[in-house]
Amino acid sequence: MAPKLILTGFMGTGKSAVARLLAKRLRWRLIDCDAEISARAGKPIHQIFRDHGEAHFRAIERSVIAEITSDPRRCAHCGDRQPAVIATGGGAIVDPQNYAALRDCGVIICLDARPDVIARRIGTGAKTRPMLGRGGRPLKQDIAELREKRREDYARARFTIDTSERTVEHVVDEILDTLADAYPAIVHPTLLSAAPNPIG
Ligand code: S3P
Repeated sequence: MAPKLILTGFMGTGKSAVARLLAKRLRWRLIDCDAEISARAGKPIHQIFRDHGEAHFRAIERSVIAEITSDPRRCAHCGDRQPAVIATGGGAIVDPQNYAALRDCGVIICLDARPDVIARRIGTGAKTRPMLGRGGRPLKQDIAELREKRREDYARARFTIDTSERTVEHVVDEILDTLADAYPAIVHPTLLSAAPNPIG
C-alpha cells in the first residue's frame, strides 16, 4: 500500500507546517486542502466565508476532498497509488462524507494543542479565522469550546500528537516513528540536522 498521510486537528496545531516537512522528508507530494479551496475560489478562505458563507466554503471543501481522495494517479514503477501528505482544514473531518473518504485513502493523524497555546499561535491572525471570534468572546474560550465540540471527530484519527511543547521537527519525527511499525516502507530518511522550528 502506498498510503496517504492525512493531517487533521484544530486550527493552530501545526498541520500545514508539519505536513510540509513530512512531505519533504518522505519526498512525497504535498496537498494542502485549504490552498486548493482558495485556488478554486480565487480568494483567501476568510473572504470565501465573508462573501458566500460557511455552507459555500464547506461545499467546496467537500468537493476538493472528494477529488483528492479519489486521485487515480499511480506510480509508474510499482503501479501503487501515489503517496501524498494531505493537510486538511480544521473542520473538514467533522463532515461524515469527508471523514469516510479520508479514512479510506490513508492514515489519519490528529495534531492537538492546549487552547492557550493555540490562542498564542493564532494571535493577531485571529481576524482571518472565520470560525473564531463570532460571539465576541475571548479567543481562548472560543477555541476551547469549538475544540471540545469536535473532540469526537478528532478522536477518530489513528493517533494524536500533542504539539503544545514540540517543534515541527519533533512532531514529524514522532509521526515517522509511530508509523514505522505499521508501514515499514516509510523509511526514516537520514537528514542533515536542522535548526528547530517553533510552531506558529
Ligand atoms: C477551519 C479551519 C481552517 C479553514 C477554515 C475552517 C475550521 O483551516 O479550513 O477557516 O473549521 O476549523 P486550518 O485548520 O488549517 O486553520
